[in-house]
Amino acid sequence: MLFSPPGSLDATSLQSHPGDAAALLGGLLDSAMDGIITVDHAQRIVLYNRAAEKLFGWPRDQVLGQSLDRLMPVRFQRGHAEHIRRFATTGVTSRRMGDGTVIHGLRASGEEFPMDASISQLNTADGKLYTVILRDVTERVRAQEERSAFAAAVNAVREEEKTRVARELHDELAQSLTALKMDTMWLRDQAAGAPAHSKLTEMLAMLDHTIAATRRIASDLRPLLLDDLGLVPAMEWLVHSFVQRTAVACELSADEALELHEPYATAVFRIVQEALANVAKHAGASEVNITIERLPGRVSLAVRDNGRGFATGAPRQPHSLGLMGLRERAVLLKGHVVIDSEPGCGTCVKVDIPLPDGGTGS
Ligand SMILES: Nc1ncnc2c1ncn2[C@@H]1O[C@H](COP(=O)(O)OP(=O)(O)O)[C@@H](O)[C@H]1O
Ligand SMILES: [Mg+2]
Repeated sequence: MLFSPPGSLDATSLQSHPGDAAALLGGLLDSAMDGIITVDHAQRIVLYNRAAEKLFGWPRDQVLGQSLDRLMPVRFQRGHAEHIRRFATTGVTSRRMGDGTVIHGLRASGEEFPMDASISQLNTADGKLYTVILRDVTERVRAQEERSAFAAAVNAVREEEKTRVARELHDELAQSLTALKMDTMWLRDQAAGAPAHSKLTEMLAMLDHTIAATRRIASDLRPLLLDDLGLVPAMEWLVHSFVQRTAVACELSADEALELHEPYATAVFRIVQEALANVAKHAGASEVNITIERLPGRVSLAVRDNGRGFATGAPRQPHSLGLMGLRERAVLLKGHVVIDSEPGCGTCVKVDIPLPDGGTGS
């Protein structure tokens, strides 16, 4: 058969040689890189390939006829049975398992491992058969976790750096300039009537401008209010300066008593800051609403504008990093971002971040 011309390996020729078909199938299954397991309607294992032997560490003869539960951590067993029951009723022939979450297998050694799996169903004369194709993704999950930990550390370092520079600008530079201003005022008063008077008046105006600029640069880097007074005062400052710069009406609703620990307070602040920067830059809106809510176990925020909106499905411009950074911040804290927008219908950026036990995210 190996030397037959292409096309001769069709269903009819295999049907007339059932032995060949079984051998072919067995060979295919055992050469597959992915684990392949078939179970019957009662979740008993009826097929188990070589890759599955390697993955789970059980030899074939010890799992055939056994319940699939043997290959799953106990805490997932009930959920899995339920999942299969629902899958059976969908009529869908195959789909990815886990609905976006990572599912876990259990090795003979008792070790758990994350896996990607897809499931398919087939009606046979002997009842329904379910086939799961699975792959160990331990390495991928580990690499992702390392990347996330690195990104979180980089973020934390950047914030620390910004805080340090903002403090120096605010405490050192602005203070020294203020002292200089006092002295200049004194000099100006001494010079009443002299030609130096008008020059000193000009210098004072320049000093005022420089002090204001120093403060503005410091708070743009990082509002020290955030560290000194907390999230809500910092948000009020953000909204106030947004309204001053853009003349767009902005309403903030946040519980006065809302208190979040780091890194949650900074994340919420930076997310709203980016969303507002986008409103200023792209929306052409006349109104923005910001809500920040503490719900049980999570903080939920939304920035909604009534501007021109945009097509969220359109490909990202290479230089557009704002929304990506916003997502990254949320995802690093296991949060979730939804951007609701349509041309002509305004934009709403919604973010949900779970808070660890203890409520405030400490
Ligand atoms: N509030 C908004 N209203 C209208 N368009 C928006 C809004 N927010 C984002 N966009 C669109 O999404 C794009 C990507 O935003 P972003 O990632 O922040 O990058 P950037 O602001 O640098 O362009 C923007 O270029 C803009 O077209
Ligand atoms: Mg932007």
